[in-house]
Amino acid sequence: MIAILDFGSQYSQLIARRIRECNVYCELLSHDLTAAQISEMNPEGIILSGGPSSVYQDDAPSVDPAILEMGVPILGICYGMQLMVHLMGGKVELENEKREYGTSTLTCDTDSPLFVHLPEELTAWMSHGDSCATLPKEFLPIAETTSLPHAAIMHKTRPLYGVQFHPEVSHTDFGMDIIKNFVFNICEADPKWTMSKYIENEIEEIRTLVGNDNVLLGLSGGVDSTTVAALMHRAIGPQLTCMFIDQGFMRKDEAKQIVTEIAKYLKIKLVHIDASAIFYERLKGISDPEEKRKIIGNEFISTFERESKKLGGFKFLAQGTLYPDVIESAVAGGTQAKTAVTIKTHHNVGGLPEKMNFKLIEPLRFLFKDEVRKLAQELGVHNDLVFRHPFPGPGLAIRILGEITEDKVKTLQLADHILIEELRRSGWYDKSWQALAVLLPVKTVGVMGDMRTYAFTCAIRVVSSDDAMTAIWTRLPYELLDRISTRIVNEVHDINRVVYDITSKPPGTIEWE
Ligand code: XMP
Repeated sequence: MIAILDFGSQYSQLIARRIRECNVYCELLSHDLTAAQISEMNPEGIILSGGPSSVYQDDAPSVDPAILEMGVPILGICYGMQLMVHLMGGKVELENEKREYGTSTLTCDTDSPLFVHLPEELTAWMSHGDSCATLPKEFLPIAETTSLPHAAIMHKTRPLYGVQFHPEVSHTDFGMDIIKNFVFNICEADPKWTMSKYIENEIEEIRTLVGNDNVLLGLSGGVDSTTVAALMHRAIGPQLTCMFIDQGFMRKDEAKQIVTEIAKYLKIKLVHIDASAIFYERLKGISDPEEKRKIIGNEFISTFERESKKLGGFKFLAQGTLYPDVIESAVAGGTQAKTAVTIKTHHNVGGLPEKMNFKLIEPLRFLFKDEVRKLAQELGVHNDLVFRHPFPGPGLAIRILGEITEDKVKTLQLADHILIEELRRSGWYDKSWQALAVLLPVKTVGVMGDMRTYAFTCAIRVVSSDDAMTAIWTRLPYELLDRISTRIVNEVHDINRVVYDITSKPPGTIEWE
């Protein structure tokens, strides 16, 4: 196991993902943990992440210095390296003309265990103001750039390493090899973290926890809850009941598909609640995005409460919470969690257990999204479900700007269906993170077959992303955009104009509401 102590870098989660990609288990932990607490976890290595602070600030986050004496290999990245230098008697130079953001050419010592088997020159991603001016005694530089003599360092006799650049980001050439050198050459970790092992462990844990009790799972049709369903079903079979609440804002035919696929492929007990009438009623006259989200979230909870009571007693509620949610809410001491503002009120099943006295089971709580997909495949979940684009809890309701009506939902379902069909046909569905059609409350004039038209505008948004935290708009070929636009205008009666959204995130968000 590799322990990553987090100092709030935007790349901390990425470090964790890279280590997991080496099939080595790691956890992102608070930098406040003591050496004794870390020792108990028996880590094969420790990484000190980057972070926005400067080591000489009064409230600069630090580590228990005893960690540096544990004899466990340590790699400090950016702030992590500066902190190690600072704690061991070196000198850090505050933000000066040597600050670097972007790529730099690195010349490295390929005799050092961190750079072994790598080219002597490589491009590395830098993002720092401060830098290490004087190294502590016993340390030597093992890489430099034209402006930075200490771009990477190592201790002469102990397994302590530091890099001023970010090997975890894809802009650093051979970054993954540098990480592998640390994990395998230096820490000598075993690559034994695999999804089949995870399944084995989780199944055993779930069985012990649940005993003869019953478990309820809110199923949305997305990859997370479907994977939880498949895993729980394998562990406890008929003791699992899934509930799918159809709010009336799903994609075209999707509600039907979810019910058949779950029943056919996974053979899981599924209760289908059609609650659309009540959701439409509650949303009458509502146009404000946050109000919509809140109404849908609250109505979802009451429906869930009402319907689960009808089904009888459940001691446990299973949820598809992922590792990024876990770290953001608690573990990492959350520099990000503390400072984050609410951009959108997310509607998920979260919040139910406190109200309803359920005990929670979260079998994906240690996994990143890409690991969930691997797990799902290992469990035999159909690829259509595994690689389905994310779909928000409030569904098409937040893709219809302004008031929602059943007619508008039908209109948007048709446009969305054409978009997805064309993306699948052309192979772009799997190349993009998410694709959506948005119905705008804007009518424009057009002409079709010599007749004047006055109808709605549809915006198309297709984005590429790794984790939805940032995204860039996908450069679809013009011919494909043309086909999508022509088909929507021809086949969807209420739409006569199509526009393509070319805003990245940030500054835009992926959903329009
Ligand atoms: P934004 O629009 O914030 O979306 O850039 C980031 C990702 O989150 C999805 N999303 C949601 N997912 N419940 C969810 O489960 C929600 O209420 C919700 N709102 C947005 C969005 O589709 C994108 O993948």
